[in-house]
Amino acid sequence: MLRFMTAGESHGPALIGLIEAFPAGLELSIDAIDRELTRRRQGYGRSRRMRLEQDRAIILSGLRRGRTIGSPIAIMIENRDRRPEMTAGRLTSGASHRPITIPRPGHADLAGAIKFATSDVADVLERASARETAVRVACGAVARQLLDHFGIRIVSHTIAIGSVGIGRKRHTFEEIVIAADGSPVRCVEAAAAARMVRAIQAAKKDKDSLGGIFEVRATGLPIGLGSNAQWYTRLDGALAAAIMSIPSVKGVEIGEGFSCSRRRGSLVHDAVYYDPRQSGGPAKGLFRKSNAAGGLEGGMTNGAEIVLRAACKPIATLRDPLATIDLTAKTPVRAMVTRADVCIVPAAGVVGEAMTAMVLASAFTDVFGGDSLHQMEENVRSYRQREL
Ligand SMILES: Cc1cc2nc3c(=O)[nH]c(=O)nc-3n(C[C@H](O)[C@H](O)[C@H](O)COP(=O)(O)O)c2cc1C
Repeated sequence: MLRFMTAGESHGPALIGLIEAFPAGLELSIDAIDRELTRRRQGYGRSRRMRLEQDRAIILSGLRRGRTIGSPIAIMIENRDRRPEMTAGRLTSGASHRPITIPRPGHADLAGAIKFATSDVADVLERASARETAVRVACGAVARQLLDHFGIRIVSHTIAIGSVGIGRKRHTFEEIVIAADGSPVRCVEAAAAARMVRAIQAAKKDKDSLGGIFEVRATGLPIGLGSNAQWYTRLDGALAAAIMSIPSVKGVEIGEGFSCSRRRGSLVHDAVYYDPRQSGGPAKGLFRKSNAAGGLEGGMTNGAEIVLRAACKPIATLRDPLATIDLTAKTPVRAMVTRADVCIVPAAGVVGEAMTAMVLASAFTDVFGGDSLHQMEENVRSYRQREL
């Protein structure tokens, strides 16, 4: 099974990603991985750390002469912003070490301190920090190159920041490709983007933060990735879990998930039509005129674009901090003020693309075999020629 995991703390020497069961024979572009890392650092409303983090992917294993060889792919991203106590790796004596005993509301700090039996919340926040999403993006960029080889593409865009949203028009995949990355907030509509920037400026002035909604789309998918057979083989579940795992995401919607719950079934579902001139493959001639299902029915891809939306909470580190308790003194205090972003929705969209790429690449190799690119190409070819 193609999957990945990560290691590394926010101010440690490096982040590490390990991709397992990636097919052999794919020519991998490291520049393409670095481009994704640059995209994650952008977006209006990010902090000064983003300028420090000029992330570069270093491939430690799994490649030979630029091609994958079927062994685990290890990726390292060095942290520019390191702290001595995170790099020593040895027990350091008391004097220089000041534990952080004040948990920040809205973060992993308090639950993690209790869970891992520590009153130094740095032990928790160093790993819980969204810095970790950099290496997710690197791993996603590898998965993405596999999907790309088979004509599967993924994009994302911002559809709301705070209470400022885009209009009702549904933008095409190509419109998002062309316009999203050129916008300071990765929003396709210029007028809405300008209002979003102003909302971020106002929140910053008030020492506050903003959340919002991003949308991820995936196109070029064959029918039948994922399976209805078990709860854990359903692709909708895997995608929702992957998107929900992004720090700050509190809601996930597939297709018209929330709005369709308010309408009658006859006005929601995507009727099936037949025209012999429509594209080939196992679904020859079958097509839909709508995509309320967001490309997923019964836990499987139905050939339409996958549409995922994620609601991000406003970030929790505030310049006007909330009340909390000092864990050692047990006295009421204000949470720490650290260098923090005001709004991370544009960056979270890029992380959403990476997570989607990983889940889709895994589902794709489940169906078409994952040992070598050659074997996958043969399987995809025969699937496309197959009659129903
Ligand atoms: C790309 C990215 C950057 C983030 N940057 C910050 C930040 O600067 N400050 C902050 O309080 N939260 C930030 N967050 C969100 C926190 O990491 C997250 O809210 C926190 O770890 C608690 O997890 P939860 O919100 O999923 O419960 C960021 C999230 C993402 C995806």
